[in-house]
Amino acid sequence: MSEMQVDVLLGLQWGDEGKGKIVDVLSPKYDIIARFQGGPNAGHTLEIDGDTHVLHIIPSGIFHPEKENVIGNGVIVDPFILKNELDELKKKGLNPEKNLVLSRKAHLILPTHRILDAAYEAAKGKAKIGSTLKGIGPAYTDKTSRGGLRIIDLFDEAFDQKYQQLKAEHFRIIKMYNFDYSAATVDGLSFEQYEAQWLKAIEEVKKLRVISTENYLNKKIAEGKKILAEGAQGTLLDIDFGSYPFVTSSNTVTAGVCSGLGIAPARIGRVYGIVKSYCTRVGNGPFPTELHGDEGDKLREAGHEYGATTGRPRRCGWLDLNALNYALMLNGVTDLIITKADVLSGFATIKVARSYRNETGEEIKEFDLDDQEFVPVYDELQGWEQSLENVYNPEQMPQMLKAYINYIENKTATPVSILSVGADRSRTLIIAENLK
Ligand code: GDP
Ligand code: IMO
Ligand code: MG
Repeated sequence: MSEMQVDVLLGLQWGDEGKGKIVDVLSPKYDIIARFQGGPNAGHTLEIDGDTHVLHIIPSGIFHPEKENVIGNGVIVDPFILKNELDELKKKGLNPEKNLVLSRKAHLILPTHRILDAAYEAAKGKAKIGSTLKGIGPAYTDKTSRGGLRIIDLFDEAFDQKYQQLKAEHFRIIKMYNFDYSAATVDGLSFEQYEAQWLKAIEEVKKLRVISTENYLNKKIAEGKKILAEGAQGTLLDIDFGSYPFVTSSNTVTAGVCSGLGIAPARIGRVYGIVKSYCTRVGNGPFPTELHGDEGDKLREAGHEYGATTGRPRRCGWLDLNALNYALMLNGVTDLIITKADVLSGFATIKVARSYRNETGEEIKEFDLDDQEFVPVYDELQGWEQSLENVYNPEQMPQMLKAYINYIENKTATPVSILSVGADRSRTLIIAENLK
């Protein structure tokens, strides 16, 4: 039997590549779906039979009641947001507590982490990151500085004391920043209201199956079960390799699966890297192929590019092969997945940045977001007029779409295994024979 039982699906750009949708589509092939990093900064959208669902902390396999879903140790959890998510799913007739387990080691996002997030962003002024303000940076900071609280602490008799102590510490910092938290709202609530809800939500979270997920997952591996690790954010937001400091606070690359779930590197098998057929970014920081004029607006409108977590308009631009090849390298991608191909229907010309040009006019293919000068050199591909509405298998693809896919495969030396042509679960073309 194969030793490699953990496959990975992650974003190769700046997030929102369509991870949620594709995880849902691939779930039937796996026994367990596990989130390994990030937290409620993620917004993973699933469209099933005309209903739209947005998940933030819960893995995107939750709509398959026979599949186990794992929130791993590398994830950070806001009990208030998790409880709301559970309630939403229950309203839809699901029983998420039946097929969800939560790591004891996952760290908690406290209400004050959210205030701190806002205080740090306010202090940065124009240089702000554009954080989702879910408390991600401050919660991961407490984790690495060894002051954080974990899910397991919720069961400690001294939890209230530990909570009050950390909260008081946070308020000392908030005061230092002269941040008027009384004027700030957290998800539309005052701090006190949010805190009251948060404390109540803890009781719900404690009713979940809270376990040592690293032992659980490795036991399942020994039993021959197949696991799909679901990434959040994207490679270019990785804390080490993203456009620092305009990044998130976790390792979003394949390596994050090992530390975020307790899985040995040799267990990692297939790595599905997902990209949009163009590129978007929400929040600040470099974006070499960003389009500022009408073309960018056209992509935004055609692709409905507004954030699933914050509703913010996403910045739009063309696919960037330098960035893509860098992401493939970091993640060891075995299969490319391209989403939102339908959005490009009707574009007479589709551009793809094949390289950057440096000051001396030389074409550069190496990519490093710490370089300052990005002058993309574009290839122009002929687009296709047809809508993809009636395309249900790869043979029906317009010729120019096939050419576009071939072009990307050639430039990345990686096969395109899945093409997504619409938001609904059913609008997915499986190209790889071994995924059919
Ligand atoms: P994630 O964070 O990677 O899961 O992606 P998001 O859910 O934040 O953003 C992707 C958006 O595109 C969602 O609104 C999806 O419903 C939608 N979507 C996913 N795949 C496709 C596709 O192939 N075509 C179109 N038009 N929309 C898609
Ligand atoms: P999914 O999983 C897109 C961006 C924010 C900001 C930066 C830091 O849905 O793809 P943070 O809240 O982590 O401190 O924000 O990262 N960001 C995302 N952008 N998709 C996401 O998640 C994101 N999560 C964070 O906009 O620029
Ligand atoms: Mg998203």
